[in-house]
Amino acid sequence: MVSPKNPLIIGMAGFGTVGSGLLRILVENKAHLFARTGREIKVKTILVRSPKKTRTFPLPEDVRLTTNPDDLINDQEIEVVVELMGGIQAPLDLIKKALNAGKHVVTANKALLAETGNKLFAIAKEKGLHLAYEASICGGIPIVETLKQGLGANKVKSLLGILNGTCNYILSEMTSKGLPFFEVLKKAQQLGYAEADPTLDIEGTDAAHKLALLIRLAWGVEYPFSDLPVRGVAEVTASDIAYAREFGYRIKLIGEAQMIDGRLEAGVFPALVHETLLLSQVSGAYNAVRIDGDAVGPVFLHGKGAGDSPTGSAVAADLLTIARGHTPDNTGFCAPPLPTPAAVIPPDEAQSHYYIRLLVLDKPGVLRDVAAVMADNNISIAQAIQKGDCDDGLCPESPTKPFVFMTHKASARGIGLALAKLEGSGFVHQKPVCYRVFTNHV
Ligand code: NAP
Ligand code: HSE
Repeated sequence: MVSPKNPLIIGMAGFGTVGSGLLRILVENKAHLFARTGREIKVKTILVRSPKKTRTFPLPEDVRLTTNPDDLINDQEIEVVVELMGGIQAPLDLIKKALNAGKHVVTANKALLAETGNKLFAIAKEKGLHLAYEASICGGIPIVETLKQGLGANKVKSLLGILNGTCNYILSEMTSKGLPFFEVLKKAQQLGYAEADPTLDIEGTDAAHKLALLIRLAWGVEYPFSDLPVRGVAEVTASDIAYAREFGYRIKLIGEAQMIDGRLEAGVFPALVHETLLLSQVSGAYNAVRIDGDAVGPVFLHGKGAGDSPTGSAVAADLLTIARGHTPDNTGFCAPPLPTPAAVIPPDEAQSHYYIRLLVLDKPGVLRDVAAVMADNNISIAQAIQKGDCDDGLCPESPTKPFVFMTHKASARGIGLALAKLEGSGFVHQKPVCYRVFTNHV
């Protein structure tokens, strides 16, 4: 057993964006970290794929690179394995081996924990080890510790947030500078915000991984990952951003979960957020989470959700917990044991306001017909814009015109039925565009 006053020896797996950010903090803030815990936190070995690659933070002389995972697992001196590789299979193998070898694990890998975390949490629990993951949700925002500890006494009523830095950066740059989607995505990749496979970001999967982890932390239950409704940002167009602004809204990728009468409603989707709400002001690679607790009321956390130093800061926080010798509390609940399935509200039953954009034939009676389809499905129109002069370039010299409107609260099922009817009608051209709307906090 390692004495608490001995250095905490780390084996890192991954020396990319987050690995470099972490190493920089451990080197540059070494004395500060020692002052907090009384233990030096020291990296001994780093596992990489390409040892000859130039690194953004220079490798200290006393740290060695390896391409062999066993150099971390079989080293008796290494007390903690920090997994910052990404992907599923290689980190799963490494983490299992590390836990079975009696080593604590820290990871930023939300995909792994959301999709296959339960078996790892079970091993960690059986062995009495830390499996810590502060960096896996919202980068530098200390949301894991907040839900487990700071707000731990509260029954959470709802949580709502911007959970993906890449998507928020893309939508912000499209909104403020009018830049095209793929140009901004490329920049996000260069800045180290995006996943190695950026479709995980833009299709909403990364935000869904984080939402699944937040649900476990907030309610101690499992919303089956494959059942979470997920929609990404790839279809968000400059014209929808512009129409949203005319109504006084910004388009954001939102992850949301709320407990309604003992059942969870949850999902990830682009939504119009009213510009008076704090969430609409969250820009660039920043993330934010709003938690509504029964005792504390609403709490709003805001900070950098991606990038080397913010994410490294969250990994280092887990290392502080381990260096201090705290008892592991990986899931934040000891009863009932995970996985306890959540009672879920079918996505079709979700109630929301909606934004709808149609390309309609510009002739008498069409707006009446649109309104009739909505009324047939119990949907009331709240406000509308119709562009007669086609100044958005969508339909120059065309017999069709955009008709854009917002609804009062309606069910997802009603909206789906109405849109299917409109799409099949002769007077609506193109597939209707539809997003949820947040006029105030749920
Ligand atoms: P990255 O820049 O692509 O770095 C990955 C590192 O892992 C590289 O050093 C790579 O080695 C190494 N690696 C990958 N597969 C390996 C394997 N099979 N064997 C040995 N080494 C391997 O990734 P990242 O952005 O730092 O992300 C790492 C993890 O943190 C991911 O799970 C990601 O989801 C998560 N995360 C990232 C951010 C962010 O802002 N980037 C924020 C929160 C969480 P080489 O360098 O030799 O290729
Ligand atoms: N790709 C992720 C994002 C990294 O953009 O939010 C942080 O988890």
